[in-house]
Amino acid sequence: MRKITVVGAGHVGATCAQRLAEMELAREVVMVDVADGIAQGKALDQWESAPVEGFDARVSGSTDYDLAEDSDLFIVTAGIARKPGMSRDDLLRTNANIVESVSKEIANVAPESIIVMVSNPLDTMSYVAMKASGFPRERVIGMAGVLDTARYRSFIALELDVSVEDIQALVLGGHGDTMVPLVSYTTVSGIPLTQLLPKERIEALIERTRKGGAEIVAHLKTGSAYYAPSSAAVQMAEAIAKDKKRILPCAAYLEGEYGQEGIFLGVPCKLGEGGLQEILEVELTDHERSELEKSAEAVRSTIAALQ
Ligand code: 2OP
Repeated sequence: MRKITVVGAGHVGATCAQRLAEMELAREVVMVDVADGIAQGKALDQWESAPVEGFDARVSGSTDYDLAEDSDLFIVTAGIARKPGMSRDDLLRTNANIVESVSKEIANVAPESIIVMVSNPLDTMSYVAMKASGFPRERVIGMAGVLDTARYRSFIALELDVSVEDIQALVLGGHGDTMVPLVSYTTVSGIPLTQLLPKERIEALIERTRKGGAEIVAHLKTGSAYYAPSSAAVQMAEAIAKDKKRILPCAAYLEGEYGQEGIFLGVPCKLGEGGLQEILEVELTDHERSELEKSAEAVRSTIAALQ
């Protein structure tokens, strides 16, 4: 890609920019932030690491969207983060206003670009971005499932004392307490997790996954997670930039898939050139289907709260 812009140069945004530059996913990596000097300073600092790290992606920052002109892809992290005791939905109004104005700026400077949404509450912010940008669903995709699945995989690897690389899993649904880790699709090198762990242990891992974001907030006290969220967003960007056609759980706008329409929800997606290439509809157990419906309901009520 020629240019990828990260909106918001806080912990998540700046870490995304660093990973994008180090992986050379675009010739130019831009950071835009409303706070004067933050994007400029962090970008220059990152660029000064290039001779040591050995990357040639040019990193720059600005308060102005002019620098983002004609970007191929945007990772949107703008908004306020969770503080201890706050739910993702508490962020709703403030972040909806921010994401709406950011999305209009994006549509203005790069009307053909792809948006990877990261701001919370994730599923609803993806919806706000799609409406405000006017982009088709192929070009607005939310980051949540990759993060939630990474947490789930990391906990399983710890529990079994095996490589994270051998854990395959899918966490679907909204990015919140109602997310749906699919036990029936969780395997260790193809071996169903249910053959390796008793039900109660699996339940405990699922519970820890659901509260994974809050666990980090409780430790940090003044902010929320950023290393794993940025890894997840950049993995999506990589799949798109390199047309890898990866199957990743992402928040996509549903038009009848999984019996849902008019909302964003975490489902298995094929990501490649152009963004969302396909939504895969997989078989679910009755329990998983009803959990996914509950999760969809939670997302729907958050969107309704915005109207
Ligand atoms: C997380 O899950 C804050 O939603 C973010 O860490």
